[in-house]
Amino acid sequence: MTAWNFDHCPDRRGTGSMKWQRWAGQEVIPAWVADMDALAPATVLEALRARIEHGVLGYSVPQRSFAESACAWLATRHGWTVEPDAIVPLPGVVTGFNMFCRAIGAPGDGHLCPIPCYPPFLSAPGNQGQRLLRVDLAQEASGWRLDQAALDAATDATTRSLLFCHPHNPTGRVWTDAELAAWAEHCRRHDLWVLSDEIWADLVLDGRHRPFVCAAPDLAARTVTLYAPSKTFNLPGLCCAIAIIPDADLRKRFRAAGAGIVPSAEGLGMLGAETAWRTGGPWLDALLDHLRRNRDLVRATLARLPRLKWQPGQATYLAWIDAQQSGVADPAAHAVAHGVGLSDGRDFAAPGWLRLNFGCPRATLETALERLARAFG
Ligand SMILES: Cc1ncc(COP(=O)(O)O)c(C=O)c1O
Repeated sequence: MTAWNFDHCPDRRGTGSMKWQRWAGQEVIPAWVADMDALAPATVLEALRARIEHGVLGYSVPQRSFAESACAWLATRHGWTVEPDAIVPLPGVVTGFNMFCRAIGAPGDGHLCPIPCYPPFLSAPGNQGQRLLRVDLAQEASGWRLDQAALDAATDATTRSLLFCHPHNPTGRVWTDAELAAWAEHCRRHDLWVLSDEIWADLVLDGRHRPFVCAAPDLAARTVTLYAPSKTFNLPGLCCAIAIIPDADLRKRFRAAGAGIVPSAEGLGMLGAETAWRTGGPWLDALLDHLRRNRDLVRATLARLPRLKWQPGQATYLAWIDAQQSGVADPAAHAVAHGVGLSDGRDFAAPGWLRLNFGCPRATLETALERLARAFG
């Protein structure tokens, strides 16, 4: 077994795994929440083991080397120059959504959000007594697109920000330069703040990721970019993320919004993240090849299932599947009844849709897809 055999994953049942506990005791392959059935990079595990061996697990303080490793990774992988001072460690990206709304909005204010969307976007404004302003994406023959008319219609005098997800979960879209320019122009015109969740940036299967602020440098002072090693290296349980906030005033506001409520990232998480950013490049490249092959298998299977429709995006290990014409009232429950557990589109403000997580060993995916084919064939 090489250090990155993505066709091998230890049995996760009984480990308190959110993904595997959901249908515990049932013959259901869980392919829902976005964590992969994959070991973390060996270098990360070694570093964590050494820290555990030391045996003292006291409070930690973020090290300069943590921020520097993030900056080096962003420069190498995405051509983005970030100053270490711009990095704010966080215990999670979702935490950052809520801090952002709190930092820049007041009760009653509105936040634009492309729909369908990752569920915690739907609740973040409401958690602060603010409002989510839905911007339904358009679906064209070529894939999901920004609908400028929908964006204009959703924007009103109360609108404070755009809650942006790039690459986009669940559709897998990597927004093109032209689309980034259009989103940015809207923010300029309406004087909006921007939250750009780029947690999926490293998992681009076709093309490349361009950070929002690289496409719109003039908006950098109004933008909070959220980023993490958790999707990239399968480390979500380490609860470590960062906000990238070049503007010192905005950084202060953002930090103040979490004061007394939000802890920093903790020691094991930051150690895992720093190790991953410093050593994880080859592991990630191998993972991307594995995910591309898995995506090919999903594509080939779904091509045989006319009741399901899928327009593959360019990123993520998630397939966003249209089951509205499947003839089944509750496609997610129907899939579970056939032994495969997918995310239910209802949670993404898109009833009738399903999200399949293909970040798993090939054999697991084959079985999951056989079951899906039995359910919808
Ligand atoms: C777009 C997006 N943002 C944030 C998260 C979660 O981030 P965290 O676990 O750091 O809160 C996910 C997890 O799937 C996600 O897809």
